[in-house]
Amino acid sequence: MTRDTSHSTHTATDDDRNRNIKIYVNGDIVHRDEAKVSVYDSGFMLGDGMWEGMRLYDGTWAFFDEHMDRFFNSCKSVSLDVGMDKAGIAEAMRKTAEANGMTTDVHCRLMLTRGVKTKPFQHPGLSQSGPTLVIIMEHSKPVEALQSKGIRLATVPQVRGLPMAQDAKYNSHSKLNCVIACLQAEQAGADEALMLDPYGFVNTTNACNFFIVRRGEVWTSTGDYCMNGVTRQKVIDLCRTNDIPVFEKNYSLYEAYGANEAFLTGTFGAQTPVAAIDGKPIGSDERPMTKRIQTLYKALIKEEVSR
Ligand SMILES: Cc1ncc(COP(=O)(O)O)c(C=O)c1O
Repeated sequence: MTRDTSHSTHTATDDDRNRNIKIYVNGDIVHRDEAKVSVYDSGFMLGDGMWEGMRLYDGTWAFFDEHMDRFFNSCKSVSLDVGMDKAGIAEAMRKTAEANGMTTDVHCRLMLTRGVKTKPFQHPGLSQSGPTLVIIMEHSKPVEALQSKGIRLATVPQVRGLPMAQDAKYNSHSKLNCVIACLQAEQAGADEALMLDPYGFVNTTNACNFFIVRRGEVWTSTGDYCMNGVTRQKVIDLCRTNDIPVFEKNYSLYEAYGANEAFLTGTFGAQTPVAAIDGKPIGSDERPMTKRIQTLYKALIKEEVSR
């Protein structure tokens, strides 16, 4: 497939240093070529695990407590014993960053699975030797084109659904639901997928949370069917403290297509502008509200780092 732009919400600038990064695997920190988990690992076999994406800014993992709250809550909900507390995770991350000489512009993917199974079957009781913890840290900066060109979204048939199927709040290893959505969007000629909720209201994208701006107001979905994104919550809080009207509500594609601006939120890209939805351009290149929120978010990160 040929595409005039080629990026996703997680496209980072190339950095040769990432060829030789060291990765944490259950207490060992080894070169990426040596970093391996078993084919019997429940994460590989079933996608049975939880993960967090975090960013390092000037020596500080931004909003670490919020990420840990979500991570431990998710693990508890699926009876996945982390095997250490929040301080233990912080120490493992500190050691990994130190081994890599990393201090800023770093993205971390922290992954915990139920561990190696005794047999290649589904039952969680077959994981008997404790969890597998892997920490990948890469030098990482979002490409500039994400800001200048924005992201082209396509609405897709795949939804992020009701909590009794697989709660959208789980940052689970299995992302097949989102991968299918992303494929559907790509096949429609877009960069990423705009997913609806089970009732047809605009919900989220396959990898980020989704906001629109209409007549000076910032709208996002109710939050019932999407990831409880840390960045999403920070944007809502920033709007509230800065007298920007913000609403978590049901709205349809009618309102999304007619928005003055739209943007995505996530730890990697912070706020990424949306250029088009289903081929319909969204607003102009000015994006005053998106820019205002980006400025407020940068200031918040600065405050977080200086604490
Ligand atoms: C489906 C989905 N939505 C949204 C997000 C953004 O969450 P956060 O802002 O915590 O990075 C993520 C990140 O893991 C995600 O996987």
